Amino acid sequence: MSATRLDGTLCAAAIRGELTPRVAAFASAHGRAPSLHILLVGDDPASKVYVGAKERAGVETGLHVSVHRMPATSTREAVLGMVYQLNEDATCDGILVQSPLPAALGKKAEQDVFDAINPSKDVDGFHPLNVGLLVQGRATLAACTPSGVIELLERSGIAIAGTRAVVIGRSEIVGKPMALMLLQRDATVTICHSRTKDLPAVTRDADILVSAIGRPGFVTPAMVKAGATVIDVGVSPTSDRQQVASLFGDRSERLASFDKKGSTVVGDVHPGVWDVAGAMTPVPGGVGPLTIALLLKNTLVAAESRAAR
Ligand code: GUN
Repeated sequence: MSATRLDGTLCAAAIRGELTPRVAAFASAHGRAPSLHILLVGDDPASKVYVGAKERAGVETGLHVSVHRMPATSTREAVLGMVYQLNEDATCDGILVQSPLPAALGKKAEQDVFDAINPSKDVDGFHPLNVGLLVQGRATLAACTPSGVIELLERSGIAIAGTRAVVIGRSEIVGKPMALMLLQRDATVTICHSRTKDLPAVTRDADILVSAIGRPGFVTPAMVKAGATVIDVGVSPTSDRQQVASLFGDRSERLASFDKKGSTVVGDVHPGVWDVAGAMTPVPGGVGPLTIALLLKNTLVAAESRAAR
């Protein structure tokens, strides 16, 4: 392993350490802590884990966190009604509707619900107004995962301006905002996706390569330029022993730990890339903790911005 490990857990702890006194200052100035309201509809097991982690981190940083749990049978109107109620609540600073919503609500429900959130409380940065502001380089609330990647690059001293950056994946949550944030910082950016021709030729050109597609081990050493910075946003839970053995090796520590727990999470980037890249994020312990730290930051920023109006 030769690449420098970009430690997201350490970076997230530093960000949270900086937020804590600002949260306390807000609380003493306004007589209440900045508040985050999380709407969790249904009982998707992964969503429950993510929401639990967001709640714990928020409380540890001094935020007020309320989790509103609604049954999987909730109607679209009931979910929208809860969002409208939180929009009107003057003590609510941030609203996060955990994705995915139950499939029974229909394909368009998620977009309708995200669109209904008051943009000044949109701590996910998913509202079209906030996305438009990001396109123009003047967003105050932007998507947490790509914002976390930028924090990690900047705090690790990795230059962005003038580099060639390649983003694999064009999701609204990660790929598109990631590309915009890199462009804003003067990288030359290419977005790749399932229809990209000769993907390895494109990715081999990258000084900064970000993968966000959720396909275990997809980015192989042959796709990476020597010395590149590789950011792995993929987090795929797996209970497939064969897959873990083929990615990490029969005698790897990861397989030993898998054998104890029966599951693990794997990234988009093949472990062999550690021997080619100059710097790289691990999975777990890379981008994941940063997403939560940036959610807390967005909640504080939303509270401060609303209080200053
Ligand atoms: N589900 C997985 N990631 C996210 C996220 O960043 N925000 C929301 N709202 N739901 C998610």
